[in-house]
Amino acid sequence: MLHLLKHPLSEHVVTHLRDRTTKPATFRTLSYQISLLLAFEATRNFATREAIVETPLEKYSGRVLAEPTVLVPILRAGISMVQPFADLLPEVSVGYIGLERDEETAVARSYYSKLPPLTARRVLILDPMLATGGSAVQAIQVVAAHGAATKDLALVSIVAAPEGVRAVEAVDPRISIFTAALDRELNTRKYILPGLGDFGDRLYGT
Ligand code: PRP
Ligand code: URA
Repeated sequence: MLHLLKHPLSEHVVTHLRDRTTKPATFRTLSYQISLLLAFEATRNFATREAIVETPLEKYSGRVLAEPTVLVPILRAGISMVQPFADLLPEVSVGYIGLERDEETAVARSYYSKLPPLTARRVLILDPMLATGGSAVQAIQVVAAHGAATKDLALVSIVAAPEGVRAVEAVDPRISIFTAALDRELNTRKYILPGLGDFGDRLYGT
């Protein structure tokens, strides 16, 4: 199911990310900012449990997050989303999946995977770009094979194409997709239009 983040702050940040004149240092700051906003949205339905604390004045019955979360960034570009999510979520472990699209075919090739236990964990796959959905679908298959339940699984992207959303929904419509922008289409090279170009290249100045 698609969840589109609609907020003046996210529109502001995404517009500057799209701007071709934005340099890598600013691009990294903007990536951090939009990921914080997405983390807020993607955790909206997380379970909480009661926690009793003492304020300086009296006892207080509050709520704290109940479930441990696993972040799974897709290398390289997904790395940019780890720190902002970890800054908001106190109890996270992080697994990594390395996938790289072939420049000619746009088919993603797996080159690395290291995951903590995923059974009975909330799993957030982090990847700023959802284009054909090939990388996301491979990542979903990897985490599912590692014990993640689709009901506990969400994909968080910054910009998504309709093709990618359909590909993920075809795996299982219960998988939540959080994105800050749903763009028009893919071009013939499978880049998102209007998009922002190659996220990894813009992030790392390559
Ligand atoms: C980009 C992006 C996604 C993928 C999306 O990564 O970060 O992982 O493309 O495209 P898809 O939906 O068509 O699979 P890329 O393969 O360019 O690798 P990088 O992060 O190392 O630059
Ligand atoms: N990966 C990117 O970084 N950008 C796109 O537009 C498509 C895939």
